Amino acid sequence: MKDFIAISDYSSEEIEDLLDLAIKLKKEYFKKGNKPIFQGKVLGMIFQKPSLRTRVSFDMAMRHCGGDALYLSPNEIGLGKRESIADIARVLSGYVQALMARTFDHAHVVELAKWADIPVVNGLSDYNHPCQGMADALTIVEKFGKKSKGLNVSYVGDGNNVTVSLMHVAALLGWNVTVGSPEGYDMNPKAVEIAQDIARKTGSKLTFVRDPHEAVKKAHVIYTDTWTSMGQEEETAKREQVFPPYQVNANLVGEADKDAIVMHCLPAHRNHELTDDVADGPHSVIFQQAHNRLHAQKAILARLFDVA
Ligand code: CP
Ligand code: NVA
Repeated sequence: MKDFIAISDYSSEEIEDLLDLAIKLKKEYFKKGNKPIFQGKVLGMIFQKPSLRTRVSFDMAMRHCGGDALYLSPNEIGLGKRESIADIARVLSGYVQALMARTFDHAHVVELAKWADIPVVNGLSDYNHPCQGMADALTIVEKFGKKSKGLNVSYVGDGNNVTVSLMHVAALLGWNVTVGSPEGYDMNPKAVEIAQDIARKTGSKLTFVRDPHEAVKKAHVIYTDTWTSMGQEEETAKREQVFPPYQVNANLVGEADKDAIVMHCLPAHRNHELTDDVADGPHSVIFQQAHNRLHAQKAILARLFDVA
């Protein structure tokens, strides 16, 4: 593994291996703390957008394993504005041992990886959110066990970056995915094609519907995300008109499997895409899911540094 840019760059076996390692590192962390496997290593973190989970969980992942992290704000770096991405990548390659980048344009994180001599991790682009996808899979495996092939994962709402990584990881692990999104808010067609290629090999079934009720039928997992992603703020008013039927509320959850779990990558816009009673209710795993970012990312970093 040189970089971690998209889950679909990896095989089912590699993703299962990452999950096994995440489970091991999580257990070790809670038992006696992690070993200093990242000692002498610093992760440079380039952020073009705000973050709570990604910033803190990457920083803590490095510190728990004896390493360190450096936050690089949008104004400082001026990615592609103050300096070219190629030059930034080559300069930082001499200062830090790995980079995490949260960019708007997916091509920018790809460009960083192309020029950097050190591993580059995608911390969310407009196309996907692979570290989130790994934490999501870890949470699903914790809830349903490793033999969860044939599980029904339903995503309701905007077919966005989070949906892409969720679909790719689910397809690689043999889970069925149903996406219920309104017209005009479908997933990236290229990402769907990639998922279909994976699904043909793993036997996972991918379904796309418009009706949110149909989407959650027999679901073991109901997943939603914000109706307006970062960078789309000028569309907020329009989206607030379109998405209310896709709200994950008690009524919708009641139509899924009785033991279904409810997931959201957070930040949640409560009582928009997800109601308070569901977010804080018995089906919700949103905080376990957020905490799993830490453990999933330790595994990703350990494989990139080749230290575990
Ligand atoms: N889920 C997630 O990536 O959260 P942040 O935007 O706060 O990092
Ligand atoms: N889809 C959201 C995810 C935030 C973690 C966004 O891109 O803003």
